[in-house]
Amino acid sequence: MLVVIKKDYDEVSKEAARVVAELVYEKPNSVLGLATGGTPLALYQELIRMHKEDGLDFSKVTTFNLDEYINLPPSHPQSYHYFMRENLFKHINLNPRFIHIPSGMVDVNDINRINRYCEWYEEQMEKAGGIDLQILGIGANGHIGFNEPGSSLGSRTRIKTLTDSTKEDNARFFHGDLSQIPQYAITMGIGTIMEAHWILLLASGKNKANAIKDTVEGPVCARVPASILQMHRKAIIIVDEDAASMLSIEYEALTPDLL
Ligand code: F6R
Repeated sequence: MLVVIKKDYDEVSKEAARVVAELVYEKPNSVLGLATGGTPLALYQELIRMHKEDGLDFSKVTTFNLDEYINLPPSHPQSYHYFMRENLFKHINLNPRFIHIPSGMVDVNDINRINRYCEWYEEQMEKAGGIDLQILGIGANGHIGFNEPGSSLGSRTRIKTLTDSTKEDNARFFHGDLSQIPQYAITMGIGTIMEAHWILLLASGKNKANAIKDTVEGPVCARVPASILQMHRKAIIIVDEDAASMLSIEYEALTPDLL
């Protein structure tokens, strides 16, 4: 695991965009794993800029999103389908046939059907040749995707119940109204994420400092799902100074040739 500390959110996002672009130039038919939430927004804006101004071509790229809320239709402004369309997809030249986001429109009472759907989602990743680069944010409680503390470190794509702390964190997207936040989500598992060839976890802000400390310097444990990244040979953690503020070992602002 490589830790890179950048001054602020803007620098974190630009560095992440540089890594993604480098991969796409190198391998035009790359398979990207994508995240939603506040963290990757500026990364996506930078990729859009690179597409429009530098001709970065996404036409052969395949994407798989990490997760989606259950019971929010794709047209719902807080669904991850909507988020991805508005914040990235409609601005670049991805082939719609190569875009994959878990469907949230499943019946929570039909667990067999959900399990079959999750297996199908994993099969699509396998058929695409596996994920080359997975982008991740991190929850204040150390979650990745919706793999909340206590999730099995070997887990696969499945349905998960959101913890109260994640609901509180995400309430900002639902006008602060906890009752509007879905109870369940479909998420890639930790085992699924760990199979990506490269992993790029981004974090910014003091509210992530504790989770970053536990992820980077704590023991590998299910209580901090992101800590499993210590076992990944090609995981890069790019954080800003605020998110790095509780790290006790000194890390440099390295910008190695990552790929
Ligand atoms: C989103 C996702 C989540 C977020 C995490 C951080 O697809 O999988 O794990 O990355 O909750 O969210 P933000 O970036 O909003 O702080």
